[in-house]
Amino acid sequence: MLRHKKIFTIFLVILNLAFFVLPIDSYANESKENFCASANKPTVAVLTSGGDSPGMNAVIRSFTKTAISMGMKVIGIRHGYEGLLNKDFIELNLETVSGISCLGGTILHSSRSKEFNTPEGVKKAAAICREYGIKGIAVIGGDGSFRGARDLTNAGISCIGIPGTIDNDIKCTDYTIGFDTAINTTIGLIDRVRDTSRSHDRCFVIEVMGMNCGDIALQTGLASEANVILVPEIEYNFQEDVIDRILNAKLNGESHFIVIVGEGVGGVSKIARHSTIAEQIEKETGIDTRYLVFGHLQRGGAPTLKDRVMASKMGMHAARILNEGKENRVIAQKNGEIVDIDITEALKIDRPFDYKLYSDALVLGQ
Ligand code: F6P
Repeated sequence: MLRHKKIFTIFLVILNLAFFVLPIDSYANESKENFCASANKPTVAVLTSGGDSPGMNAVIRSFTKTAISMGMKVIGIRHGYEGLLNKDFIELNLETVSGISCLGGTILHSSRSKEFNTPEGVKKAAAICREYGIKGIAVIGGDGSFRGARDLTNAGISCIGIPGTIDNDIKCTDYTIGFDTAINTTIGLIDRVRDTSRSHDRCFVIEVMGMNCGDIALQTGLASEANVILVPEIEYNFQEDVIDRILNAKLNGESHFIVIVGEGVGGVSKIARHSTIAEQIEKETGIDTRYLVFGHLQRGGAPTLKDRVMASKMGMHAARILNEGKENRVIAQKNGEIVDIDITEALKIDRPFDYKLYSDALVLGQ
């Protein structure tokens, strides 16, 4: 009797495990027939690529729901272009995308694929799309991901780029999904640093993300009353733009100081290399100075309302234009409107840095 009970318990455990494990693994192993377009259902796909950004999940949801409502079948490609090359697919339905808008990161995972960045990789990816009946792909990511989308379109698979990066560095659009969440996270962190900075009469040099774009540094520097803001777009003179500004603020009665440095300042694109600025400040002013890199803390967290709304609008727009048969487009926000632009043209567009806001921020930080 006891033995039967034991066997029955083991059976239940195995059944449970199968229930939880199979839906994920089986997607990867499921035969391609299950993913192929049925006679009257065109198949489209969605992937996230490059650095993740808060709001990507809200795009996945809105794209999927809109595409399904228009009679399409939706495949989620996991791990970006790398996953496309590895056929790492799951089917997305109304249930799988329900309740994900509030989640940071990307449920589809992301990657930066070296293989896809070669002509052979693009060819292989296009062949896989044909094999699985994928007619079009929504690519959520930055401009590197858009270049991939353009190449894939040229290889015969319609792609629509959706701007998703915390850096706000895609020049064809006024806004990239994730930026608002990242800057709000960043000012929250700077506020905390200011508390301890004030208590100890210290100077803090804080390095923020943004690669070669100074938008995160500028916006958070202005909002957090930074005394010095260094951005990759503007060369700086250490004496005038750093030391003199700190000493001037001291003369104006400040006892603690905030210096914001965009990670791409000086053209280097690796984090944690501006510590020398802090060392030099301490040496030349005698002010106790500390150095902080916020790094990936800025990329996580639940998306703000702005990012969720923007993501929802852009995801819907992408599904609609794919349905209309448009290809090689980038979704953008222009003067408050959601529009779509030819990818090749979009990659050539240059949006200038906001020099006016920058000089205003410096006046306020004196
Ligand atoms: O592009 C987004 C971003 O977070 C940049 O701000 C940063 O330079 C980079 O990605 C970091 O990349 P990784 O996560 O690969 O270190």
